[in-house]
Amino acid sequence: MSHIISRRAYLQMLAVSAGWAATRAVGSGQEAKEGKGMPAPTQSLYERPPDHERRMQWWREARFGMFIHWGLYSILGRGEWAMVMEDIPVTEYEQLAKQFNPRPNAAREWARLARQAGMKYMVMTTKHHDGFCLFDSKWTDYSAPKQAAGRDLVREYVEAVRAEGLRVGFYFSLMDWHSADWAVCQTDAAARQRFVNRVHAELRQLMTEYGKIDVLWYDGAYPLDAEGWRSPEMNAMVFELQPDIVINNRSWIAGDFSTPEQSIEAAKGDWESCMTLNDHWGYGAADDNWKSPRTLVSNLVKCSQDGGNYLLNIGPKADGSVPEPSVRILRTVGQWLERNSPAFYGITKADITYGDGVYFSRKGNEIYFYIHSWPGSSLTIGGIREQPKSAKFLASGREVKAQLNGSRLVFTDLPLTAPDNPVTVIVAEFATAPVQDSAAVRIVEPFLKLIHEQKAKGWS
Ligand code: GLC
Repeated sequence: MSHIISRRAYLQMLAVSAGWAATRAVGSGQEAKEGKGMPAPTQSLYERPPDHERRMQWWREARFGMFIHWGLYSILGRGEWAMVMEDIPVTEYEQLAKQFNPRPNAAREWARLARQAGMKYMVMTTKHHDGFCLFDSKWTDYSAPKQAAGRDLVREYVEAVRAEGLRVGFYFSLMDWHSADWAVCQTDAAARQRFVNRVHAELRQLMTEYGKIDVLWYDGAYPLDAEGWRSPEMNAMVFELQPDIVINNRSWIAGDFSTPEQSIEAAKGDWESCMTLNDHWGYGAADDNWKSPRTLVSNLVKCSQDGGNYLLNIGPKADGSVPEPSVRILRTVGQWLERNSPAFYGITKADITYGDGVYFSRKGNEIYFYIHSWPGSSLTIGGIREQPKSAKFLASGREVKAQLNGSRLVFTDLPLTAPDNPVTVIVAEFATAPVQDSAAVRIVEPFLKLIHEQKAKGWS
């Protein structure tokens, strides 16, 4: 087929994906960097959309959301890029639509799991790059309702999310490997017009037929720029139909928040780090590289203390069931969050950095100690010169003995095994928030600076 993506185009695309990170930091100076295919920077393209503060309020409090990659690729079980990675012709790939018939209301299971995990919103692929629509697109028969499934999976999803009291998000891929018009949209003006009109119309449909939508998550804005996609007009339409919605930055204009992918990078404005639970977005049958609940707790804390959200992905199987390890891991994280929620919401960075297997955050004059490696009967943090007013285990409320030994804060009489899992939190209240001043503080930073300088000179 002539419109199968070429290897060169695919590589370009990966470069574009990588470029998302560079567009993430609106207002931090990075926005001026022009990526390939990017429009010339102008104020309006990089400004936050109107009413940003009001619309973002719930999102900033939510902190934790579920991403769902689900579609025809879930049948193959080799990730959502299988079609182009394996050069599967459109005519062959589209046969999968005749098999894709998930069990009814699978999304209820996801929504329940999301709530149990402590997530407050969900974002599902209404259409991924393969072009298969999970909703009843008026512009193609390549959709769940018109193929084997025979029903609108976006509607089932929306109802399931609302039933659990969560916020509803739509992921929408601009790029479409199934569309012959998309394949030539860079060079053929008529095809471009047809395709971009269709994209706008599908978004209008999604923003009209499903009630209140809380998040619109664009992706894959290849190969056009903001002018080509008519992104400002597209967002204006979305805001007109959904005045409370928040929109991400992946249509080459700023949107309400930036989207670092597979990494946690604090940025000046609002940001949401999206991440896989193993190494796949779409179901990866052979992928057993699961992140541990401890890693996820650590990632959640990193996002929250730097003012970001964490959008954590599940890749359900084609029948809609969630791989068992994902369920187990997310439930563990949710139970931890339930016991330790003050150590997640409303925290900022502490002026304490160095500890062995211990991490820190702050809320006013309280310091949270996240103990990853349980040390046994006592725990010492260097460079704290103030006696806490009180200290306790956050989960149980049980008091913890704390004493100052010179510049060392020592928690004593601790149980021999960790009282909580995967991370035990001690919260200690001080008269004023302590600033760590230890030998490590004095040595490590200058040492890192020296390493950096030597590297800059060519040392490796
Ligand atoms: C990457 C992948 C894409 C996925 C997205 C989620 O860009 O290529 O398939 O949907 O990450 O952020």
